[in-house]
Amino acid sequence: MAQADEATRGLDVSVPNAARMYDYFLGGKDNFEADRVTAEKLLALVPQLRQSVVENRRFIGRVVRFLAAEAGIDQFLDIGAGLPTRDPVHQVAQKINPHARVVYADYDPVVVTHGRALLTVPDRSVMVRADLRRPGELLTHPEMRGFLDLSRPVAVMLIAVLHFVPDSDDPYGIVAALRDGLAPGSYLAMVHLSGDFVEQDAAAEAVSIYEHASARLRPRSRAEVLRFFDGFELVPPGLVPKHEWRPDGSGPGHRTSNVSWGAVGRKNAPGRLPRSALRRADSTDVSLRIRSG
Ligand SMILES: C[S@@+](CC[C@H](N)C(=O)[O-])C[C@H]1O[C@@H](n2cnc3c(N)ncnc32)[C@H](O)[C@@H]1O
Repeated sequence: MAQADEATRGLDVSVPNAARMYDYFLGGKDNFEADRVTAEKLLALVPQLRQSVVENRRFIGRVVRFLAAEAGIDQFLDIGAGLPTRDPVHQVAQKINPHARVVYADYDPVVVTHGRALLTVPDRSVMVRADLRRPGELLTHPEMRGFLDLSRPVAVMLIAVLHFVPDSDDPYGIVAALRDGLAPGSYLAMVHLSGDFVEQDAAAEAVSIYEHASARLRPRSRAEVLRFFDGFELVPPGLVPKHEWRPDGSGPGHRTSNVSWGAVGRKNAPGRLPRSALRRADSTDVSLRIRSG
């Protein structure tokens, strides 16, 4: 578990850190020289990364609004949350439902410490330190359990985090364990980085750059990402380039640079929502538009 060891080591500003590089892509100030240098190397290879990261936050906004307003979800578990700085889940959800509760989880101790300081209404949102690769511990985390009622539907957000979980850590087993721990009617929202959107050489080089960062990168194909939704019904429009998921006109839409897939799925609970609102794991062939996505 090399990544866990790196995460527990705490602040080492000489090692490019995935969370701080992400902050740099977002235009934030919570990053150091090593993060910025590595982030710039990545941007030289994959220039669309910066816009794609901004679109991650927009996707979160659209998804949370859908879940809070249309699906009646009032509990959120945002795993691999990063710093809750830009339109965080609790702010978006609580604009719709002031009683919505949000647990942010991250394995990076610096993110957790910093995140705790940013969360100012402690009875409505909390940040816990937890590792996605240990879903059993995550689902029984005392602070999380004190905050969310897992006997009722919860939305689990896995936004731009599963691509940091290598195959050797059994990512499909992890997502299945989370699914099995959730009540029927719960949701899974995901953004996953993919080589489908970039030239093969650039993708391979980007992966090799992350070899020297706090976490390795494992981009996945559309078929590989779709597999994470086993046991979920996809909310239309299914698994799509993430900016195409229910666009609301607030972003650049179809012209947006993108490097990842996005989808929302609902854990089966027959009869609780109109079947017409949902469809089974999407088999639409979007391969013709992914490179221009
Ligand atoms: C690219 S950032 C995404 C942040 C946020 N979800 C978003 O989309 O804006 C990935 C975050 O996942 C966290 N992370 C990576 N691997 C993790 C793991 N195994 N368990 C928990 N958090 C993890 C990192 O510390 C980082 O904060």
